[in-house]
Amino acid sequence: MTMRVRKAVFPAAGLGTRFLPATKVIPKEMLPVVDKPIIQYGVEEAMASGCDQIIFVTGRGKWAMEDHFDMTYELEQTLEARSKVELLDVARQISQMVRVASIRQKVPLGLGHAVLTAKDLVGNEPFAVLLPDDVMDAAVPCLKQLIDVFNQKQASVIATQVVDGKAISAYGVLDAKPVPGFNGRLFEISNLVEKPKFEDAPSNQAIIGRYVLTPRIFECLENINPGALGELQLTDGLRALLKYEKMYGYCFEGKRYDAGDKLGFLKATVELALKHEDLGPAFTEYLKSLKL
Ligand code: UTP
Repeated sequence: MTMRVRKAVFPAAGLGTRFLPATKVIPKEMLPVVDKPIIQYGVEEAMASGCDQIIFVTGRGKWAMEDHFDMTYELEQTLEARSKVELLDVARQISQMVRVASIRQKVPLGLGHAVLTAKDLVGNEPFAVLLPDDVMDAAVPCLKQLIDVFNQKQASVIATQVVDGKAISAYGVLDAKPVPGFNGRLFEISNLVEKPKFEDAPSNQAIIGRYVLTPRIFECLENINPGALGELQLTDGLRALLKYEKMYGYCFEGKRYDAGDKLGFLKATVELALKHEDLGPAFTEYLKSLKL
């Protein structure tokens, strides 16, 4: 029996230390890129990919994320009273967008542990994982591209991008062979190597923050050994899953911004502002006037 991917898990319990002091009180996921908080890009992508249940794995001080997708009664009342119809629509669209469930990861014990924290909310079905830091710009949503592969293969699929040169050492990397018939984008994975030296990297396919996983990953995460600081790495769980099931990498079509990093955040802000329907033309003129 084939299964549909309905649930999208957003691990968002990290401390966001690369953005201090901005993230001392405000969750990193709530920093705005142009006019939307980072988390909203991921949630919109999940919904456009067919997911209708959003699961946030949060930590202390992250309540603003849940509030953002809730009704804001006073705001909506005020906008209604002032006949600000367009703004009211914007506010309502977000609150009516989606059902959100959230669960606390009490101690940030790693990405693998964050995913495991969502086990009971996910249950025994395939699900998506989206790291909110990765803001995607793609004609077909990145997650949709993975789900299309999942629907064909009924196996876990990890998004990748090509990373050339020494920068590969910052990523998990696929050891994999291309699957014929997918324009060289689909790979059957034989191993995953975390942050290899450039010389040792088995390929230039770097793992990025989108996954479709089968529920067996939970059992695998429960049985791997934590690292020195008690952290559970998702990559270790995926490697364990490979012993039981096939797993694919898909080099997605589109652009990824690492908005969890200051430079990546600025790139996302500038490029998405340039493409923005209202702001784009004026912002383009402004950038040209800088004559850098
Ligand atoms: P990062 O490695 O980017 O960590 O986590 P971070 O804490 O968010 O940011 P920095 O490095 O301190 O600036 C990757 C993703 O995994 C989540 C994070 O919220 C982020 O979405 N995560 C990480 C958890 O949910 N729990 C953890 O224990 C660790």
